[in-house]
Amino acid sequence: MFSADTYSSRRKRLAEQVGSGLILIPGNSESPMNYPGNPYHFRQDSTFLYFFGHDVPGLAGVVDADSGRSTLYGDDFTVDDIIWMGPQQTMAEKQDLCGADSVRPFEALDTHVKEAEAQGRTIHFLPQYRGEGRILISRLTGHQVLEVNNKTSETLIRAVVAQRNIKSPDEVAEIEKALEISYEMNRLAMKSAKAGLKEQEIYGAVEGLVLSRGSHVSFPVIFSVHGETLHNHHHHNIMKDGDLLVLDSGAESPLHYASDITRTFPVNGKFTPAQADIYSIVLEAQLASITRMRPGETNRNAHLHAVSVIASGLKDLGFMKGDVDEAVAAGAHALFMPHGLGHMIGLDVHDMENLGEDYVGYDERVKRGTQFGLAYLRMGRAYEPGHVLTTEPGIYFIPELIDQWAGEKRHAGFINYEKVRQYRDFGGIRIEDDVLITETEPRVLGRPIAKTIDDVVSWCAA
Ligand code: GLY
Ligand code: MN
Repeated sequence: MFSADTYSSRRKRLAEQVGSGLILIPGNSESPMNYPGNPYHFRQDSTFLYFFGHDVPGLAGVVDADSGRSTLYGDDFTVDDIIWMGPQQTMAEKQDLCGADSVRPFEALDTHVKEAEAQGRTIHFLPQYRGEGRILISRLTGHQVLEVNNKTSETLIRAVVAQRNIKSPDEVAEIEKALEISYEMNRLAMKSAKAGLKEQEIYGAVEGLVLSRGSHVSFPVIFSVHGETLHNHHHHNIMKDGDLLVLDSGAESPLHYASDITRTFPVNGKFTPAQADIYSIVLEAQLASITRMRPGETNRNAHLHAVSVIASGLKDLGFMKGDVDEAVAAGAHALFMPHGLGHMIGLDVHDMENLGEDYVGYDERVKRGTQFGLAYLRMGRAYEPGHVLTTEPGIYFIPELIDQWAGEKRHAGFINYEKVRQYRDFGGIRIEDDVLITETEPRVLGRPIAKTIDDVVSWCAA
């Protein structure tokens, strides 16, 4: 955990921002796989981690926005529990570690909330992404379970996002611990891939490495010769000579901050000229986007700049035609890059997506676009020092999308479908790093992971 002062001052600021009422921050409970005693790996709620720090199930935090006092709810374990679980921290120890003003048994939470409601005070809570969270809030507030997410507090959402969007040096250091594992994951995958192996063999080794470092993945590993499927979680293909592999993966730091890195490399360690051509465009777009990542610029503009580089490169290779600016304005490039440039990263790999992407990545000055491609941009707003976000442009040849667009002659003035059809089976390429916005130069976090063609070839040959 961070120091108790860190959690106390985060809660104090939260209380000030929310102003009045009771703020409910439930932790997560265990999530059973097939019977209650056989749970999935426990993952604490990220907002609970941010404000109370404790990484165990069965807790809830309350911050009184009027008094600024905070209470941690939970129960001490009995010897019967400890026989199975081993020694556990007491609630009093947990109180000290997170600096809460008091601790109470979990069942006392009902009374606390109901008394506040009886006094006409507002009960603030966040959108709940698990059934158990909705049921708990429903029990405490009397809202119907299916209504809970319609009754959330926008004031609280905005206050949480305002704090969590700006990472402190300690948080950046955590992200860099996760990135150190990413470095090893990518090194292992690049040196281990070879024709004849199944994707699942490398996938298993990469995830095993994460576990062996005492961590867990920050999202299910994407590893495939079919990189044109953006989130490809199937790992059953046999890798062949000439295939490209996309590895999009991340780990968690000890305090659960995420890394998220994508690299694309050839199974046999050597890019064909056609692969090198497309790879070079993606790399140029990624590097160009990073130069834009500084205060005063918006991620929307960085996205548009990156896709212009892609459209221009694809025009040079004969896949696109016409005026590049007009093609980008029309959205023709989205045949090749149908997703956004990147997203905030922190305690969640898509940071605070559960609170609403538009609260995190947009504001009154930059609204989400509606055009195909741009609409998937998770973050459009202006950069501020302390933002950490990914930049992850790509070029994909998605057979179903090509067929659909070609059939409709969509953007036929900007796309050379005859040439595109020849690349139907090319696959996809994506390159992703995690970048800290500073007052001056953007900082690509973590130890550099092979990204130039020469470095990738040399890592594959290691
Ligand atoms: N790393 C997966 C994603 O950003 O969607
Ligand atoms: Mn990402």
